[in-house]
Amino acid sequence: MTNKLRYFIGNWKMFGDFGSFRIIHRINQFSYKSRKRFKKKIIICVPNTLIHFFSKKLKSRFISLGVQNCHHHQSYGPFTGSVNASMLKRAGAEFIILGHSDNRSEGETNQLIKKKIKSALNEKLNIIFCIGETFKEKKSGKTFFTLRKQIRNSIEKKFKINKIIFAYEPVWSIGTNKVPKIDELKKIIKFIKSEIKKIFKKDSYPKILYGGSVNDSNIRLFSSIPDIDGFLIGGASQSSKKFIDIVKNYYK
Ligand code: 13P
Repeated sequence: MTNKLRYFIGNWKMFGDFGSFRIIHRINQFSYKSRKRFKKKIIICVPNTLIHFFSKKLKSRFISLGVQNCHHHQSYGPFTGSVNASMLKRAGAEFIILGHSDNRSEGETNQLIKKKIKSALNEKLNIIFCIGETFKEKKSGKTFFTLRKQIRNSIEKKFKINKIIFAYEPVWSIGTNKVPKIDELKKIIKFIKSEIKKIFKKDSYPKILYGGSVNDSNIRLFSSIPDIDGFLIGGASQSSKKFIDIVKNYYK
């Protein structure tokens, strides 16, 4: 196992209440205890309703908190039901997931995601930018085409690459218990890396995560791909035990 920093990012989606802080607390304890054994960064992205309370309660250098989306508008505005990046930052978010397929499937376009990335970067938030092909795109051989378009239409050369973590999440793998074949995944991660390097300086080192049905048993498969910088974990991040087991098993 290499000594490279690995990201383990939880995406709670529309789950969790104030009592769910116990999950954060347990993960934090684990993160602290294993700080010398595993070189890892743990981030939990919670619903907007919890970010302020959790960030006040959590006094920790060992895990960070984030949210899952924002409105693209930079300042206050007449947008019913929305919150902008600045409000989320002031509520305690350090990270923000943008471009998740749950939102793309509700009509979020690459152009809109680009505006959101811009406004979140202006707030100095760290971005977890999700890309991934649908089952239909995969079946019709359009995986690379889709990924290239998602990257090129949302990412600009002037963006700070070290503030963006890319997450490859094939839509067909989210919540389905299906994961890509390892050889296929290796090629895709390489492709994403090369696409990003075309936009930024050649010596830039883009961080790329895998997400989609990651659990404590299949995590071992992924440790054979050194190019993967970590994981974006949905369902399994809502249980401290499952989340911790994923981290432990990765390093086994
Ligand atoms: P699952 O891990 O539940 O498949 O979800 C993945 C995901 O969407 C993380 O953003």
